Amino acid sequence: MTQKILVLDEGTTSTRAMLFAPDGKLLSSAQQELTQHYPAPGRVEHDATEIWHRTLACAREMVEKAGGAEHIAGIGITNQRETVVAWDRNSGEPLSRALVWQDRRTADFCDTLRNAGHEPEVQERTGLLLDPYFSGTKMRWLIDNEPAVKAAAEAGTLALGTIESWLVFKLTGGSFISDASNASRTLLLTLDGEDFDEGLCDLFGVPKSALAEVVDNSGTFGSTLRELFGAPIPITGMVGDQQSATIGQGCLTPGETKATYGTGAFILANKGQSIPASSNRLLGTVLYQEDGVRTYALEGSVFVAGSLVQWLRDSLGLLGTAAETETLARSIEDSGGVVIIPAMAGLGAPHWQPEARGVIAGLSFATGRAQIARAALEAMAHQTFDLAEAFAADGARWTSLKIDGGMSANDWMAQDIANLLNLPVERPDFVETTALGAAMLAAKGAGIVADLQEASDAMRGTIGNFAPSMDGNVREKRLVAWRKALAAA
Ligand code: G3P
Repeated sequence: MTQKILVLDEGTTSTRAMLFAPDGKLLSSAQQELTQHYPAPGRVEHDATEIWHRTLACAREMVEKAGGAEHIAGIGITNQRETVVAWDRNSGEPLSRALVWQDRRTADFCDTLRNAGHEPEVQERTGLLLDPYFSGTKMRWLIDNEPAVKAAAEAGTLALGTIESWLVFKLTGGSFISDASNASRTLLLTLDGEDFDEGLCDLFGVPKSALAEVVDNSGTFGSTLRELFGAPIPITGMVGDQQSATIGQGCLTPGETKATYGTGAFILANKGQSIPASSNRLLGTVLYQEDGVRTYALEGSVFVAGSLVQWLRDSLGLLGTAAETETLARSIEDSGGVVIIPAMAGLGAPHWQPEARGVIAGLSFATGRAQIARAALEAMAHQTFDLAEAFAADGARWTSLKIDGGMSANDWMAQDIANLLNLPVERPDFVETTALGAAMLAAKGAGIVADLQEASDAMRGTIGNFAPSMDGNVREKRLVAWRKALAAA
């Protein structure tokens, strides 16, 4: 019987189930959009019940395609990170909307902690900064502001978790675990601590008793309830989506770096088993954990990438499809001086300004759709360049960059990144590396392969290349305009 791997890829804007063969070939996939709730500027929420129902519906479709649950060797879960779900352990029902990673409502709390001098210690211990992006302050906000969450905390039935925890809880009917890569995004786990840290829980005001047990990224994490898919399926991999893409890109040795252009853009460099430290506002994070041993990454998180194009399409109506940006960008010589700073959700690395807001600079009567579309794509290279400088300053200079994610399918953008960075850029033919990384971990957890290197050799496909070809003066001019506009954001 063929051993297939089922990946549940729960992203920010959609949830997907994907069926993989052991050689990494994608056999089938199902996808459903997730409703984005924007109750006020800077606030972004999801409905955790919708996430569960839509993920389950997609998974059921794939189990049927596989010919039944017994044809699936293991499930790999990968997910949008930092987003917090609060639920009741007894009822298994959410107690509030989930607060999404992009949500900025805890900016004041972060300021208070920073002004009290906590940031250096928090950064040293967790690798993270005091920014509303991370889960810890969101957890505290839910306890303080949602009466049902507070009541459950008092009754001792509260569960606070990231999306992989929520899905495992629902799939298994009550197992409460979080993998180390996701747990390392909460501000509540030290980079070298086995479990959530009491001192950090006290600092952020989150009861440790409401948190999950921290586990490896591959192994046997229980099985799905029989009634869900007709027979139990073992859950054998779990990983945050950006760490997953890093693994899916085969960045398994120190120094190898990937950039994923999805809703946001996230750049991670493998740092091996040494704990990463940044002096340039980058993050240290767990890449994966095997048998309790951690491999780390240095990360630059950019909050807006594909969501900028989506905004141009859905809110402004400037585009019919996201793919149109490529034709529009190619139709002109340059952006005509238009520069976009995509700070709709504040600025992430290396700037970390939660209150910054987006800017479209350099408008003239000659500005049309093409200039705006081109400036939107150019913003991806500009944001990546800022991170390249920060990584280099932290002693992790890139020699090439492996790109992926839905937006990286845009050839014009891929070439522009190579040009602006003046570096070779590699792009796998199969850009869904986030799902592939989770498939690799699940294959290992299911015993199909012995280790991640074997999984990478067996499952990764062919790679395309983009060589830099931009005149140095053009590059310089672009960067000067970018920095000027950035100052205005
Ligand atoms: O840290 C947030 C990240 O995990 C979201 O990923 O794929 O939705 O852009 P994505």
